[in-house]
Amino acid sequence: MHKGSPTKVIIDTDPGVDDALALLIALASPELEVVGVTTVCGNVPVGQGTKNLFRLLNVLKASPGLLVGQGAARPLEEDLVTAVQVHGSDGFGELDSVLTHEGAMRYPSVRLPPVLPTAQDVWNECIRRYQDDVTLITLGPLTNVAVALKVNPLTVQKFRSVIVMGGAIGVPGNVSPVAEFNMYVDPHAAHRVFQAALPLTLVPLDVTTRVGVARDVLRTWTTTSRDPLCRIVSDMTAKTFDFAEQVEGHGLLYFHDPLAVLSAVEPSLMRTEPLHVEVEMVGRVSRGATVADRRHRKPEEKASPNMQVAVDIDAERALSVIRSRLCPWS
Ligand code: RIB
Ligand code: CA
Repeated sequence: MHKGSPTKVIIDTDPGVDDALALLIALASPELEVVGVTTVCGNVPVGQGTKNLFRLLNVLKASPGLLVGQGAARPLEEDLVTAVQVHGSDGFGELDSVLTHEGAMRYPSVRLPPVLPTAQDVWNECIRRYQDDVTLITLGPLTNVAVALKVNPLTVQKFRSVIVMGGAIGVPGNVSPVAEFNMYVDPHAAHRVFQAALPLTLVPLDVTTRVGVARDVLRTWTTTSRDPLCRIVSDMTAKTFDFAEQVEGHGLLYFHDPLAVLSAVEPSLMRTEPLHVEVEMVGRVSRGATVADRRHRKPEEKASPNMQVAVDIDAERALSVIRSRLCPWS
């Protein structure tokens, strides 16, 4: 059981199905205190991501005191590439089409607040309140971090730790043969962040594709209770399983974003290595590739590490933690 005071975290997200699972896990983990959630363009346009976030917080009946802000609507230089083919046209498994027995929408849209702070407003307020006691967990492209480095670098440099879901070091990409989606969408932002000497921990596909679940297994987790959380986990993941079965062929929903959260919940689940990592920004076929310098050289003979990279994971224990936080009834 968690002993010390909870780690204060801000979650920057492009909700997205696995983002939603990550948020559910973060809010259910006593090791964390979620002090802010901000949205960024990625899986879906940022306005849709913000609507999804409020829809989820409504189901969760999350504390009204949670600071929520909307961030960047487009990458620094590239046009936005979304992942609606993976997450459904709304980014949340097309929840509008989920009806109750009586034919009503099970997840009605929720009204957004009349005034919505920006992501920068939320980050500045969290740092004002908690100083250097805040960890930033990014689950989408790094555009908001890159913008903050430009407009308010002192805020970003106050983060105790920055945990980034993204990259592919020794494994293939997902959105392209070499690039992971979050890096691919905004490689210029990732480059700026990787060069900023922040306390980065990268959680790449190397570990996230080791922790997945098949449709029938998740069904055994979610059919043991009629809890609304159970139901939304089941309802929102159907489209992602369709993609995993019909396009990727392996049929697994990978817990990409939940593992970035687990890196803050239980760091011992992953083994990290200090590495120097760069992002390809301009390659016709290599855009978004994350290239780590793993040559066997004396340290003084190559670029010094700019981050910790999760290179191995206790996959079985990670899955058990995910299940216990996502579906404690199962
Ligand atoms: O490549 C996986 C990442 O891209 C996850 O964060 C997923 O939500 C998408 O944003
Ligand atoms: Ca994401």
